[in-house]
Amino acid sequence: MGMGMEMDMGMGTVALLLRLCVLLLIVCTANSSDHQQRFKQAPKFYNSPNCAAPPADTCSSAAVHVAMTLDTTYLRGSTAAILSVLQHSSCPQNILFHFLTAASRSSSSAEASAVLSATFPYLKFQIYPFRDSAVAGLISTSIRSALDCPLNYARNYMATLLPSCVRTVVYLDSDLVLVDDIAKLAATPLRDHVLAAPEYCNANFTAYFTPSFWSNPSLSLTFSGPRRKPCYFNTGVMVIDLQRWRAGDYTTKIQEWMELQKRMRIYELGSLPPFLLVFAGNIAPVDHRWNQHGLGGDNFRGLCRDLHPGPVSLLHWSGKGKPWARLDANRPCPLDALWAPYDLLQTPYALEA
Ligand SMILES: *[C@@H]1O[C@H](CO)[C@@H](O)[C@H](O)[C@H]1NC(C)=O
Repeated sequence: MGMGMEMDMGMGTVALLLRLCVLLLIVCTANSSDHQQRFKQAPKFYNSPNCAAPPADTCSSAAVHVAMTLDTTYLRGSTAAILSVLQHSSCPQNILFHFLTAASRSSSSAEASAVLSATFPYLKFQIYPFRDSAVAGLISTSIRSALDCPLNYARNYMATLLPSCVRTVVYLDSDLVLVDDIAKLAATPLRDHVLAAPEYCNANFTAYFTPSFWSNPSLSLTFSGPRRKPCYFNTGVMVIDLQRWRAGDYTTKIQEWMELQKRMRIYELGSLPPFLLVFAGNIAPVDHRWNQHGLGGDNFRGLCRDLHPGPVSLLHWSGKGKPWARLDANRPCPLDALWAPYDLLQTPYALEA
């Protein structure tokens, strides 16, 4: 009996240690294992007859501009997202991609760029090294979660990184796929707004900011006055007028909130709250079909999430779980099956067709 118990305890400890080791291994080898990722080559996609002639250069008015971040860790997600954009576009040759990469990891950027060229030989894209070291000093929290990777803040710097002739850009996260024509999203009427995104007025907006924010009138006044009722929006899918952004210097406005956050905690983790502080209640609406978010599941328990009611143009695996990780682990959520067709990863077991 005693023996058995001791053994159980021993086994338990060993199991725990093993699990810890595995965790450490995952964390520490995440980058090196990504270096071995190989992707299948995507086919060439052609414009339908009624499209404008493909843009001759970045400044051409026929171009539909799409911006995304790019790093080796999320490459599998990025390639799936790009493929989905091209596949559902009626004028795929008119899409120009702008990829923001971390300047501090130039080898990673170079590799990601090489993988992209090999995977999408016909893709029109440019790479913009983002000085992530500059923003790293602005990230306040001691908990350095994935949400606080400096590259997450790159979307705040598009107006300066992208050429000044680029006016409207669609920003997309890497953990999503489109099942509709991105040109429709890009054509969202911004009217006199800088930014358009789907709004969620039922979300508890209060919860994104700390009690010290709400109890300080000079801060909480941000959300009163001529603004509409502020609503949550997700920064993973945005249509942005870069010209108006530049004119209003919104990069500095967002940065100022980040600087304040460094001195006093006014919001919870992430790159999203500063966007809410500057834009919530003052954005152009986009139909919810363009960001069916939260499919990554519950942040705490990892539960699977269902689609929100209504039509779907874009599926977004925001949240803790990513479809590629769950598929690899043989524990997919039902909706991960909708991501799988866009997966270009070449598995070692795949038979050559
Ligand atoms: C919203 O969140 C705040 C802060 O977390 C909380 O105090 C409040 O009760 C919540 N309201 C609702 C309606 O859930």
